[in-house]
Amino acid sequence: MEERKQVVITGHSTGGAVAAVTALWLLSQPSKPSFRLLCITFGCPLLGNQSLSSSISRSRLAHNFCNVVSIHDLAPRRNDDLWPFGTFLFCSDNGGVCLDNADSVRRMFFILNSTGTPNIEERPRYEHYVSTLSHQFLVSRSFSGGSLSDNSYQAGVALAVESLGFSRDNPSGVSAKECIEAATEITRAPIVRSSELAIELGNVLPSRLEIQWFKDSCDGSPKQLGYYDNFKVMSKREMKVNVSRAKLAKFWDGVIRMLEKNELPFDFHLGKKWVYASQFYQLLAEPLDIAYFYKYDYSRTKGHYMENGNRPKRYLEIDKWWKEKGEPHKEKGARTRYASTTQDTCFWAKLEEAKECLDDMKSESIDEQRRYLLWKRIVGFERYAETLVKMKEVSVDVLARNSSYSVWVERLSEFKIKKGNMVADDAMEF
Ligand SMILES: *[C@@H]1O[C@H](CO)[C@@H](O)[C@H](O)[C@H]1NC(C)=O
Ligand SMILES: *[C@@H]1O[C@H](CO)[C@@H](O)[C@H](O)[C@H]1NC(C)=O
Ligand SMILES: *[C@@H]1O[C@H](CO)[C@@H](O)[C@H](O)[C@H]1NC(C)=O
Ligand SMILES: *[C@@H]1O[C@H](CO)[C@@H](O)[C@H](O)[C@H]1NC(C)=O
Repeated sequence: MEERKQVVITGHSTGGAVAAVTALWLLSQPSKPSFRLLCITFGCPLLGNQSLSSSISRSRLAHNFCNVVSIHDLAPRRNDDLWPFGTFLFCSDNGGVCLDNADSVRRMFFILNSTGTPNIEERPRYEHYVSTLSHQFLVSRSFSGGSLSDNSYQAGVALAVESLGFSRDNPSGVSAKECIEAATEITRAPIVRSSELAIELGNVLPSRLEIQWFKDSCDGSPKQLGYYDNFKVMSKREMKVNVSRAKLAKFWDGVIRMLEKNELPFDFHLGKKWVYASQFYQLLAEPLDIAYFYKYDYSRTKGHYMENGNRPKRYLEIDKWWKEKGEPHKEKGARTRYASTTQDTCFWAKLEEAKECLDDMKSESIDEQRRYLLWKRIVGFERYAETLVKMKEVSVDVLARNSSYSVWVERLSEFKIKKGNMVADDAMEF
C-alpha cells in the first residue's frame, strides 16, 4: 500500500459484498488512500439504500467500483429496496454491456426480471466470462475504433442489445435498447458540459485580465497603497474591477454547483487545466473579496471573514482541489523575487484580525486575560507575516509603503515602544 501500487479488491457473491464494504471503508478513511483502489465484484447482492448510492456518486467514489453481473444471476437483483452504485457490467455468453448510472442499472434489472431468464449455476459462468470477456472486449473495441458517429453509435447500441442475448425486435430487446440509450446520454452529458465550461472559461478571461491590469497598475502607483487597499477606495476604476470580480465569482460558483450536483465528470477537479485555472483565479480574486468584505460587510456580530461561514464556499472547494492534487507538497525552490500574488490567499483577512486585536489592546477597559490572548495573536501574526515576507511568498503589494500591512507593522512598533516594559514582561511569561 505504501508503494502506491494499484490495489484491487474482489470477491464473488457474498464475498463481493465483503469486498465492496472493505473498499468503502478504505475510501472513507479521513486520510484518503494514496494508492489507486479498484473493487471488482462478481454476482454481488446489492448493499445499501438510495442514500448510500447517491452519496457514493456525490463523493465521486463510484468509479472505484465495477460489478460484473451475469444476466442469469438472480442474486444481484433479489432485493428491490436496495440501490446499485458503481459501474455494472452485464454479461451474457454473447458479450457484455456497461452501465454506470443507478437508474439505468435498476431498469436493466427490471428488464431482466421481466424476461424471466432462468437462474442457472453461476459460479462457473463468471470464470468463463473473465476468460472470454477481455478478449471479446478487445475485439469489439478494435471494430469501433473510429469516431463515434451517430451511425456507429446506433450500431453500438444494437450490438449491445444483442450481447445480452435479446432479439432486437422483441419487447425486452426494445426496452434494453432504450435503457442503454438513456444511460449513454446520462454518461455523455458531463463530458459535454465540461467542454462547454472550457469555452465559458475563455469567455471570462477578459474579466481576469482586467483584474490583473488593475493589480499591476496598483503595484506601480506612486501612492504606494497596494492592490488590497486600493480596491477599498471604490472609485470609478474599482467599480469596473468590482464588476469583473462579480463575473468571475459567478462563473466559479456555477462550476462548484455543477460538481455538487454531479453534472461534471467525477475527475473534473483533478484535471490540470482546472486545478491551475481555479488556483490562479483564487490568488487574484480572494484578496479583493476580503477587501470588499471588510469595507462593506464586516461587523463584530457578523464576525470575521474566516468565521461564521463568511468565506465563500468556492474558495474552500478550490483549496481542497489544490490539496487533492498534491501541489502544496511539491518541493519548491527558494524564491529569488517576490511572488506575483500572495500565496496565502487569506493573508489580508488574517491581517484584519490582527489589526482589530491591536486596536482592542489599546483600549483601557480590557482585563488581563483578554490582553494576554490578544497579544498572543498579535505576536503570532507578526511572526507568520515576517516568515512569509522572508520567503518572498507575498506579492510586492503587501510591502507597499501605505498598505494596511505596512501601516500595521509601524503601529505595532510604536505600540511596543510606548508600552515597552509592560509588553516585554508579558512576553516573558508566554
Ligand atoms: C438509508 O439508510 C440509512 C442508514 O440506515 C438511513 O439513515 C437513511 O435514512 C436511509 N435512506 C433512505 C432513503 O431510506
Ligand atoms: C426481481 O424479481 C425478484 C423475485 O424473483 C424480486 O424479489 C425483485 O424485487 C425483482 N427485482 C426488480 C428490480 O424488479
Ligand atoms: C460590487 O459587486 C457586487 C456583486 O455584483 C454588487 O452587489 C455590489 O453592489 C458592487 N459594489 C459596488 C460598490 O459597486
Ligand atoms: C502614502 O505615504 C506617503 C508617506 O510615506 C504619504 O506622503 C502619502 O500621502 C501617502 N499616500 C496616501 C494615499 O495615503
